[in-house]
Amino acid sequence: MIVKPKVRDFICTTAHPVGCKKNVENQIEYIKKLGKTKGPKKVLIIGASTGYGLASRIACTYGLDASTIGIMFERPSNGRRTATPGWYNTAAFEEIATKDGYYAKSINGDAFSTAVKEQAIALIKEDLGQVDMVIYSLAAPRRTDKDGTVYNSTLKTTAEDFTNKSLNLNTNEISEATITPATEEEIEATVKVMGGEDWYDWMEALSKAGVLAKDAITIAYSYIGPKLTYPVYFNGTIGKAKEHLYQTSLQINKDFTDIGLQAYISVNKALVTQASSAIPIVPLYFMILYKIMKEKNTHEGCIEQIGRLFHEKLASSTPTVDELGRIRLDDYEMDPSVQEAVMAAWDKVNTENVKEVADLDGYWEDFYHMFGFGFDEINYDEDVDIEVSIKSIVE
Ligand code: NAI
Repeated sequence: MIVKPKVRDFICTTAHPVGCKKNVENQIEYIKKLGKTKGPKKVLIIGASTGYGLASRIACTYGLDASTIGIMFERPSNGRRTATPGWYNTAAFEEIATKDGYYAKSINGDAFSTAVKEQAIALIKEDLGQVDMVIYSLAAPRRTDKDGTVYNSTLKTTAEDFTNKSLNLNTNEISEATITPATEEEIEATVKVMGGEDWYDWMEALSKAGVLAKDAITIAYSYIGPKLTYPVYFNGTIGKAKEHLYQTSLQINKDFTDIGLQAYISVNKALVTQASSAIPIVPLYFMILYKIMKEKNTHEGCIEQIGRLFHEKLASSTPTVDELGRIRLDDYEMDPSVQEAVMAAWDKVNTENVKEVADLDGYWEDFYHMFGFGFDEINYDEDVDIEVSIKSIVE
């Protein structure tokens, strides 16, 4: 099949298998160049197929020589529709990693469910015995709880309306967007989906089953961002969930001292991923940020961020953390000189100057790359097999 991008609003409904493989290969190359560092050897990654989770899996494999089990929720091709990018990424990653002599297996299913937790435990017992690191990198729109209740995550404010500049991704016009406040129920639901409850459940299940090595480390990813986006992010519904995630890290540290489990939040940089393009107002901030950070030569993608996590922040026996115990990979983004420049650009950006003030091209390049499109080396007029299997998959 000849596969072209089909973009609707902020989502692309097709993915290119060869392009997704290229994306994975590029990330592997980056980590290989960075070289090896010491760290965990048996890693479970929850949310391992795209964005920060995929980068984590690649960094653990090629930077630490670790065996990995990845959990994801992706759709294979049915012969007519392409698979999701995460499916193709995982197929490519496993094929390359296995060829290179690494252990890599994946479970495709709902990480919130007890069944997937049990499958992961069985696989760890059978193949690895125990894991010494668990990375929690889920970004999910909804969660079905054990009793069948479905919770939906929303991206809203928690106080009053928030109105600010926003870029229409279809027309490149800047207008004002208003984000309305969430109800109490919506806030609670977002915390259920994106907060720490499920992270805790995972740790409890793994610990009870005896598959967590002594002194294992677990990391969940978070975001803070600038004051500009506080109403929709830090103080919004997602921010409440992230606060819960942070409180959960403290709770895990208290409750699992018997096995020496250490939990950390890593606050990462704002990046275009499938999860982040969905937030209103925020993409314009990203595009301006990209422009400024590229000018300063401090721009990073997921793989550069996670490379730095292992090579810099986790390199010594005690991770480098801030006053609240959080790992800060957003240090370059939050650099005062970067933020001042972003705010100045934000004030002056309009439809006429948006292409100069913001890195529109860089944003779209990242966006298309996520789905395997826009790579110069790939001939997109060529027929490709869209049905790609993953050898190790547990479903
Ligand atoms: P993403 O959308 O690229 O990846 C999400 C992953 O979760 C995928 O592997 C997907 O298959 C998996 N997943 C989703 N629902 C699942 C389910 N029910 N069961 C099993 N797997 C499921 O997201 P991204 O952006 O990499 O986000 C990962 C984490 O990083 C999130 O906690 C996010 O808040 C955080 N983060 C993201 C930033 C950004 O700008 N993208 C910035 C800082 C933190």
